[in-house]
Formats: sequence, C-alpha cells, structure tokens
Amino acid sequence: MSEFEKKITEYKGKIKLSTNIEEIESLRLDLFGKNGVINLEFKKLGQLSAEEKKIFAANINKIKQDLLDIYNAKSVEILDKDIIQKVEKEKIDITLPEKEFKIGKVHPVSQVIDEISCIFSEIGFSVEEGPDVENDYNNFTALNTPENHPAKDMHDTFYLDENMKTLLRTHTSPVQVRTMLKGKPPFKIIAPGRTYRSDSDQTHTPMFHQLEGLHIDKDINMGHLKGCLNYFIREFFEVDKIKMRFRPSHFPFTEPSAEVDIGYRIENNKIIIGEGDKWLEILGCGMVHPNVLKNCKVDPNKFQGFAFGIGIDRLAMLKYGINDLRSFFECDYRWLNHYGFDPLDVPTNYRGLSR
Ligand code: DAH
Repeated sequence: MSEFEKKITEYKGKIKLSTNIEEIESLRLDLFGKNGVINLEFKKLGQLSAEEKKIFAANINKIKQDLLDIYNAKSVEILDKDIIQKVEKEKIDITLPEKEFKIGKVHPVSQVIDEISCIFSEIGFSVEEGPDVENDYNNFTALNTPENHPAKDMHDTFYLDENMKTLLRTHTSPVQVRTMLKGKPPFKIIAPGRTYRSDSDQTHTPMFHQLEGLHIDKDINMGHLKGCLNYFIREFFEVDKIKMRFRPSHFPFTEPSAEVDIGYRIENNKIIIGEGDKWLEILGCGMVHPNVLKNCKVDPNKFQGFAFGIGIDRLAMLKYGINDLRSFFECDYRWLNHYGFDPLDVPTNYRGLSR
C-alpha cells in the first residue's frame, strides 16, 4: 500500500469517527483543500509519462469520489443531528402565557385623530382621505386660489416638478374638491391627514397634520358652523363651557371667512382651556365660496355650506401639554413612551375620550 493510500485509509477512519461540524470541516480542508492530500497527489502527475498519467489520475479520481461520498454522508448525518439537538433544546411551549410584554405606544397625533373622528362621527360626519401628492388644480385652482396668491410661492410649497403642476399638498382642503367631484350633495365629511410646507421652527415643521371639515346641504349657514365648532371644542378639551370667538379673516375658498380663537389662562405654569382673558387661534373656517362649489360641479344656487381647517398637532400639544412641535417627529422612543397612549386605550365618546 502506498503512502498516499495509507493516509486515505486513515482519513476514512477519521471521517467515520467525527462527531461535529468543526471536526468534519477541518477534515474537508485536509483532504480537499488547496494544499490538501488529494491535490498534493495530483501534483505528482507532472513527473509521469502520458500513459502513466492516465492510470494514475483515474486512480486518484476514484479515491477522491469514494472519499467525497463518505464525507457527504457524514456531513448530512452531523447536520441532521445538530438540527434535532437544537430543536430539542429550543422547545417552546406556546400555550404558556407571555412573561414579558413589550407594548408599543400610540403617537399623540394618531390618538388625537381618533379622538376627533369620534367626536365628529357622533354628529354625522364621515371620514374621507386624499393623497399627500396632489396636483396644482385640487390644491389651489379649484379652491379659488388666484394664480398670484402668496400661498403658491415656491418658499411655501414643495413642488415636485419643474412646471409646478404636482406638489405635496399644503393643506387638507383639496380633499373637499375630491369629495365633491366624486359624489353628489349633501356632503358631511372630515378629512385628517399629512400636509407639507417649507417651514421649520418651534411651532412649524415641514410636515404637519390638518383636519378638514366640509358640510354642504340645502340650507346650511354660519349658525350651523358655529354650533358645530363649539360642540367640537368642548368635546375635544372635555370641558362643559368654552370661551370662543370668531374673528373676520380671509381665505380664497370661503366667503365670509373667519378664524376661531379659544379663551385660556395660565395657572401654575399650566394652560387652562376655555376660560381666562387670553386668546389662542386654533382654526380657520367659513362658508364655502360659490366658485369652489362651481369648480366641484355643485350648483351654488341650490347648495351651500361651511368648511373648516384645523391644525391637529397644535391641538395635540395644547391638550397633552407638549411644548415643542418638532419633538413629534423626532422618533425618540423615550418621548413616545412618555407622551404615547396605550394601544388598548381607544377613544370612545361614551367612556370619555382621554380617560
Ligand atoms: N386650508 C387652510 C389653511 O391651511 C385652513 C382652512 C381655512 C380650511 C378655512 C378651510 C377653511 O376649509 O374654510 O390654512
């Protein structure tokens, strides 16, 4: 028996006796590696005649194949054993109760959107949605916003193309347009969502949230608007009485237009909503401009109504005592843990919104 054949017999024994992946891997390298037993034997071919080469190479190849068969069978056996052992060790009794819960929190903005939706659903509003990427027509033109209006300025609006035809919506008002164009009056909807403007400081972020309201029917007037908003603010801040005032304002899409302020005072560094002699602006509103109705295929001689736009983040800050708007969007887990809500704490009108 040659030196080589002796080695091979020895290695066959080693393979058969090996019990783990490390052992068999090291044998693989010894045998089939670049400088392994097989390759070294092949190197001897150079010294042989053509006739000898044939016989010699055929013999090594046979031995190599033989070894590979033994090696492969052993590898499979070891791997199988390994998996069975792992599975046995990792046995999990899925019928046992969870020992350690990691509960996520609901972001205050999401919670406030749920609260607001609850409040308006109680008086017959349904929820509509529109896309964040809007066209210039829905965001401005249909809403009676003239070509040279400051809101269209490049500094405020994030345009998405050179022709300024697609943009990130600057308010939720285009959902009014979408809703009216796809249906028939009456309309009674709210539309919460993300809005975007190129602005950033303690009270402004480039992305923020608004809620649009629209109520169109045969004889809706400013009185209905006032009653609706008064009800909403009382419910939202969970107070019985609210001091509220309408200030004349201007929006291209409403006539007349107003901004709504609520009364507040500061007591022990805390803001008390609904009373006091300070005023805080919280929303814009008005009677929908006849031009908007016309643009949305609604006959202004038959239908009229009101609309409003509320800054959701601002309301969340006020209700839950959060000072810096930017913290809303920093994705700081500690912040969310502190200000966030229990996922099971779903707001309902009956249990109380935030209790
Ligand atoms: N879209 C306005 C804004 O972003 C808010 C607003 C004002 C919406 C009056 C309305 C409205 O629907 O009637 O500032």
